Formats: sequence, C-alpha cells, structure tokens
Amino acid sequence: MDNDILISYAKKAMGNAYAPYSGFSVGAALLSADGEVFTGCNVENSSFGATICAERCAVLKAVSEGCTSFTKIAIVSSSDDLTYPCGICRQFLSEFMEDGEVILCDSEGNIKEYSLDTLIPFSFTLTKDM
Ligand code: THU
Repeated sequence: MDNDILISYAKKAMGNAYAPYSGFSVGAALLSADGEVFTGCNVENSSFGATICAERCAVLKAVSEGCTSFTKIAIVSSSDDLTYPCGICRQFLSEFMEDGEVILCDSEGNIKEYSLDTLIPFSFTLTKDM
C-alpha cells in the first residue's frame, strides 16, 4: 500500500482523538503483513497516566483481532511539526514489527520515513532461558 494512502487513514483516525486535556490529537494507521489497515487515535483520561497513545491504540485493535505482524505505521498529529512516537510506543511496536517502517507526516504534508530499528535500537526483549 502507498504511504500516502496509509497517511490518509491516519488523518481520518486523528479526527476521533479524545484529547480534552492536552488538545493534542494524534492518528495512526498500521499496515499488517497481509495488507490490512488498523487505525488508532489517542484516548486521554482524567487520570493522565491511563492515557493511550494513537500508536498503541492501533496495535491493540489489531492484536485483539488476531493480527500480530506489521510492516508499516503512519503517524500524524494536530501539531505543525512531525510527531515522533513516544518511547513506550516504540517498544510496543518493536514487539510486532520487525524491520518495520515508520512514516511521519506533518500538517503541511512534509513526510519523513524511518526504520523502527533506527528509532529504537536495542529494544528490550525477554530472553527465553529464564
Ligand atoms: N501521544 C500519542 O498519541 N502518541 C505519541 O507517540 C506521543 C503522544 C498523545 C498522548 C497524549 O494524548 C497527547 O499525545 C499528548 O501527550
């Protein structure tokens, strides 16, 4: 799937952001290895720490539907700048996205692409011999 199309899914999802506390809306669109798109938006909470980022929202929707392998994620926000995924989301994505591509798009349409590995080298993994 073209990055432009994935970005348009992320923009649509951003419209559903629930962000009354920060006023900062984020949208994400995750492409599965078999070509399905799962979208997410940030969902804030009065108990701020309970807030879910858009990226994890998309991953949770996909995994709960039985889909656990992804190739790309597009991320957009209401800010003028590119929005880089937070540390928790980078770690969360690394569980399900080997050699994945992270596509960021700002409100003027400027696009940057990174490999997830560039954004989170040496992500945490549990060793099996515990
Ligand atoms: N947020 C995301 O949705 N994704 C990120 O990677 C960074 C931050 C959201 C969480 C919160 O609702 C708002 O942006 C401000 O931090």
